[in-house]
Amino acid sequence: MRAMISEKVGGPESLVLKELPSAPVGKGQVRVAVHAAGVNFPDTLIIADKYQFKPPRPFAPGHEVGGVVAEVGEGVQGYKQGDRVIGMIGHGGYADEAVVDQNNLLPMPDNMSFEEGAAFTMTYGTSYYALKQRGDLKPGETLLVLGAAGGVGLTAVELGAVMGAKVIAAVGSDEKMEICRKHGATMFVNYAKDKLRDKVKELTGGNGADVIYDPVGGDAFDESVRCIAWYGRLLVIGFASGRIPSLPANLALLKSCDVRGVFYGAWRGREPAEARKNFDEMFAWFRQGKLKPHISMRFPLEKAPEAMNALLSRQATGKVVITTR
Ligand SMILES: NC(=O)c1ccc[n+]([C@@H]2O[C@H](COP(=O)([O-])OP(=O)(O)OC[C@H]3O[C@@H](n4cnc5c(N)ncnc54)[C@H](OP(=O)(O)O)[C@@H]3O)[C@@H](O)[C@H]2O)c1
Repeated sequence: MRAMISEKVGGPESLVLKELPSAPVGKGQVRVAVHAAGVNFPDTLIIADKYQFKPPRPFAPGHEVGGVVAEVGEGVQGYKQGDRVIGMIGHGGYADEAVVDQNNLLPMPDNMSFEEGAAFTMTYGTSYYALKQRGDLKPGETLLVLGAAGGVGLTAVELGAVMGAKVIAAVGSDEKMEICRKHGATMFVNYAKDKLRDKVKELTGGNGADVIYDPVGGDAFDESVRCIAWYGRLLVIGFASGRIPSLPANLALLKSCDVRGVFYGAWRGREPAEARKNFDEMFAWFRQGKLKPHISMRFPLEKAPEAMNALLSRQATGKVVITTR
């Protein structure tokens, strides 16, 4: 098998393409012939030893794959050779095959492509858990999404609109607004040009946003906590800007608001049945054409460093995928 391997701590250029022997398929596991792998910001963190999980080296990054079951291990139920599946694996996805525990598999909807399958679980899974279980987002509420054209951001825009919220997309350039409009946002802020707190207050008639979805952190977090509504919920998703912000506690007091952490991977491990229910709901929306994963760039396996750099340089919108066959 071929895989892009992290042998030492570093950035995207530290990955090397290797030909390796296939890993054995254990009890309760299947081998997936990988057709496409999703590229997520955490992939850039995991190879730099900056992520919550630190797999022993050598390892391939890549949290999620879309492919076909090639081999089924002892005791596996519900999957057979030839099934189209999505694998959620934490790491190991930048490869042309992956061994996946059956609990980390999902059957891929018939009308979903391998690329869409590889682009679905991390971003939509995170955003739906954030908005539904953590944010209690209600129809008619205002949802402010920061980094709204990015991987998780664009799915929060789409899901927020499907859930009946009025979505404000906050982005770092005017060009990124249009893609957010296509996915359901109706109001826009360019935080590179406008002061986020002033623009959000203007758009909400002074009320502020009921729910704020923040995968950016840094200055954007500092600004957004100053334009949150009374009883608002600020969802801490990540820190793509590179700075983990601090919250002056008086700001939470002044708005009677909540700051709520969102750790999707850990929640999925703790509440697998709830997480699966979320996917069932989202797959139904996908079948109805209400969710449309946006894939802006595709790279062959050996160009995985370029794929990661597209995220780090803020060039990508929606998802970037690696194709392997
Ligand atoms: N909590 C969880 O369970 C969970 C799950 C998945 C991902 N995450 C986190 O969510 C964050 C976003 O992940 P993603 O895969 O959606 O990444 P992404 O596709 O690269 O999107 C990140 C967005 O952040 C904005 N940004 C602002 N400053 C940036 C900078 N210095 N470098 C890169 N982007 C910057 C960019 O939008 P503008 O150019 O418009 O500002 C970009 O579109 C990451 O921190 C990731 O670790 C958390």
